[in-house]
Amino acid sequence: MPYEFIKIDKSERVAILKLNRPKALNALNTQVLKELDLAIDQLDKDESVDVIIITGEGKAFVAGADITEMKDLNAEEGRRFGNFGQKVFRKIEKMEKPVIAAVNGFALGGGCELAMCCDMRIASEKAKFGQPEVGLGIVPGFSGTQRLPRLVGIGKAKELIFTGDIIKAEEAEKIGLVNKVVAHEELMNEAMDLAKRIVKNAQKAVRYANIAINRGIETDIETGIEIEADLFGLCFATKDQKEGMTAFVEKRKAEFKGE
Ligand code: HXC
Repeated sequence: MPYEFIKIDKSERVAILKLNRPKALNALNTQVLKELDLAIDQLDKDESVDVIIITGEGKAFVAGADITEMKDLNAEEGRRFGNFGQKVFRKIEKMEKPVIAAVNGFALGGGCELAMCCDMRIASEKAKFGQPEVGLGIVPGFSGTQRLPRLVGIGKAKELIFTGDIIKAEEAEKIGLVNKVVAHEELMNEAMDLAKRIVKNAQKAVRYANIAINRGIETDIETGIEIEADLFGLCFATKDQKEGMTAFVEKRKAEFKGE
């Protein structure tokens, strides 16, 4: 599929989706969001892909939603723009295949929100995070007010959102916003290494675990436990469960087929 602002590379069942609008620090305008939406649909359906890594070209992961495009919007247009980004990000969050954000630089506003809708975040030591929206007269509008407190707690989220402070990767790791900080040159290797450690496992089980965590976190624990029980049961209808356990008993390495 021809994209202007997205590059996709695939190898070893991992797809790297790179936002490629470096002149504007990969700022998310409507076209970038539409392409991201299409690319996610494409990778979700792609049977040769188990794990997706999202990263950015140049010195930014994403420096936010496109301020030039938003500047003159009225209330209704602003709502529509925010809502479109929310929908794309929710699609990423709900995808069963694991998505890793490899945060190579600025992850501000909509960029921090994009990183947060991914399942895991690996950051370069050069990465910077923040929700600077109130300095522009707006609130985070791609679900940052919802995901940041869920990730780092209400007090820290309010501090970051009310001040617009930009924090370094190290601080982001300390507050639980990123899983790991790595040397800049090692970022993609580390993200690939994480992806491959996932790819080697039974993919239906990985995806069921993702569903159980995502749905469980949004409900009460009793319901979450029920969801887990259903998915646990479903695992026994997969070929990979038989293979995984048979391989253990036969003292050999499992050969999973994703079935
Ligand atoms: C549009 C942007 C942009 C953005 C950078 N650019 N961020 N364009 N929207 N969010 C453009 C600049 O205008 C400039 O274009 C080029 O990218 C390079 O940026 P510089 O500012 O020259 O780079 P630098 O001096 O290194 O500063 C980097 C930066 C700064 C600190 C990241 O660019 C910055 O503060 N950007 C805005 C960050 C921000 O406030 N993000 C939140 C946006 S609101 P030219 O043409 O001059 O070369 C948001 C809301 C989400 O995300 C929810 C919406 C519903």
